[in-house]
Amino acid sequence: MAEQRSSQWYASADRNAYIHRAWMRRGLPAHAFDGRPHIAIANTASDLTPCNSHLNEVAESVRQGVYEAGGIPLNLPVVSLGETQVRPTAMLWRNMAAMATEEMLRANPIDGVVLLGGCDKTIPSLLMAAASVDLPAVVIPGGPMLTGTFAGKALGCGTDVWRLSEEVRGGTLSQEEFGRSESSMIRSRGHCNTMGTASTMALVAEALGMIIPGLAGTPAPDSRLLEASHETGRLAVELVAQGRRPSSILTRGSFQNAIVALAAIGGSTNAVVHLLAIAGRAGIELTLDDFDRIGAGVPLLVNLQPAGKYLMEDFHRAGGLLAVLREVKDLLDPTALTVTGKPLVDHLDDARIWDPEVISIRSAPLQPDAGIAVLHGNLAPGGALVKPAAATPRLLKHRGKAVVFDTIEDLHARIDDPDLDVDADSVLVLRGCGPKGYPGMPEVANMPVPKKLLTRGVRDMVRVCDGRMSGTAYGTVVLHVTPEAAAGGPLALVRTGDYIVLDVEARRIDLDVPADELARRVPDTATVAGFAAPSRGWEKLYVDHVMQADTGADLDFLVGSSGDQVSRESH
Ligand code: FES
Repeated sequence: MAEQRSSQWYASADRNAYIHRAWMRRGLPAHAFDGRPHIAIANTASDLTPCNSHLNEVAESVRQGVYEAGGIPLNLPVVSLGETQVRPTAMLWRNMAAMATEEMLRANPIDGVVLLGGCDKTIPSLLMAAASVDLPAVVIPGGPMLTGTFAGKALGCGTDVWRLSEEVRGGTLSQEEFGRSESSMIRSRGHCNTMGTASTMALVAEALGMIIPGLAGTPAPDSRLLEASHETGRLAVELVAQGRRPSSILTRGSFQNAIVALAAIGGSTNAVVHLLAIAGRAGIELTLDDFDRIGAGVPLLVNLQPAGKYLMEDFHRAGGLLAVLREVKDLLDPTALTVTGKPLVDHLDDARIWDPEVISIRSAPLQPDAGIAVLHGNLAPGGALVKPAAATPRLLKHRGKAVVFDTIEDLHARIDDPDLDVDADSVLVLRGCGPKGYPGMPEVANMPVPKKLLTRGVRDMVRVCDGRMSGTAYGTVVLHVTPEAAAGGPLALVRTGDYIVLDVEARRIDLDVPADELARRVPDTATVAGFAAPSRGWEKLYVDHVMQADTGADLDFLVGSSGDQVSRESH
C-alpha cells in the first residue's frame, strides 16, 4: 500500500503509533492500519438542522462504499447550522463552522473526506474548509424535500411562507388558514424545495466539480441518493489513490462554470457571497464584477420558485442540472475538471430535458439574460446586487424617496404604522444589517411591504439593504450594499426623504444628494447606536475580522489555505 497521510499516526512500532492504533481499534482489525486510506465522513446531521437530519442514513451508504473500495470510513460530526433555528443568523456562524471543520480535518489521521451538507450554510462551510485543507474531498448534497401541498396547491418551502404571511397582512388570508398550512410546509426529509440557497449551493457545488455529476437535486427521500452515496464512498478512496484534491478541481474555469449555472438556474443571490468566500480559500481571484460579466447573456432556463412556478422535485424529474448545462455548454470552461477526473462538459452528452415546462431549451428561455446584476454608484462604492429575475421589471429603473430604518427592530416597530410617510414609489432602506453591523449579515433585505400599501394591492417596492435576502424570497431588492453602514459606507448617511435612483440597466444605485452635502453629513446617533459591538467570544472575533460582502464576508485571517500538513506529536 502507498504511504498515506494517516500513516504518520499509525505506521510505526513505537509507543506513539501504538497509542494512536490502540485507541482506534474498538473492532477495527489490525489490517485497518496497514496503509489503506482513512476516509472521514464530515457529517452535518443534527436534529437542530432538520434539513440535514437524514444524513446519518446517507453516511451509512458512504461507509459501505468506502469499505467496499478498501478504505476505512470514519464518522466525523462537524458544526451544523439550521437556517431556521440558529440565532441571530446562521451566517454569523458560517465562518466558525468552516474554521472548525478545517482544523478538525487537518488535526486528525485522515487521508480524504466525504462532505455531507444540505441546509443553506452547510455546503458553503464544508467547501471553504475543504479548500483550505486541500485533502481529497467530495460533497454529497442531502437533497431537497418532496413537494408538499395545501388546499390543493403545491407549497414552495420558504417562498410560500413569505407569500402567505403577506396575504395575512394584506387581509386576503385568515390567520387560521395560515396556521393550518404550517403542517403541510415540510412534506418530507430534505432541505427547502424551492431554488433557494440550499438547492442553489448543491447545484453550484456540482458545477464547481465537487459532486458526482448528476447527483445534486436528487430528492432526499429518493433511493438514488443512497446509491450515489455508496458510489461517492468508493470514489473517495479513488480520490486519495489518485491524489485528486480540491486544488486540482477548484480553478478559475470551475468558478466560471458555477456562475453560468447560477444564472441559468436563477439561483440565490447568497451564492455570490459563498462562491467569493470559497474562491478566497482556494486562492482563486474572483470578483463581484465577474458575476455580472460571466452571467451576462446567460439565459434563465429553470422555471422554479421563487422566480418561477415549479419545485425541485419537478426539476429533478425534468432532467436536473446536467440538462440545463447541456443547453449552455458553449459557455462552460471545457477544461474544468470534476471529482471524477473528467471535465464537467464530458458528463453532459447523455443529459436530456424531459419536461420543457420546467427546464426550457436555449432557444426559448424564460428570460434571455438571467445573471445577477452588480450595481455600483455613490450609494454602493464597493458594489451591490439585484436579481432581476426575481424583481418587478418596471421597478428596475426607478427614482423614489427613501424611508429609512436603522435596525430590524426599528423596521418591525414602524413598517405597519398607519402614519408612516410612505407610498408605492418610496424606496425602503434598511441598514445596520451587514457583516459587522448586525453582526452576521442576516436575510432581512426583503423588507415587508407596509400594510397600508399591501391593502391597496402593492406587492413590490424598491428596497435597499446592506444585509442579504433569503434565496426563497423575491422582489426588487438591492442587497449586499458595500461598504455596509457600520463599516462607514454611505448607506449610513441616507436620510428619510432623500431621493434614491436605481438604474439596473446602467448598473447604478445612487443617492441623489450633492457630493458636498454628502461630505458634510455624519451618521446620526440612532444609526450609530444600531451597530452592535460585542465584547467577547466568537462575535467579537467575527466583528473584528470579518470582511465585506464583496469579498465573501470571510474572516481576513482565514483567506487562503494551510494545506494538510501534519502537526507535531504531543505524546
Ligand atoms: Fe434548511 Fe431552507 S431551512 S434549506
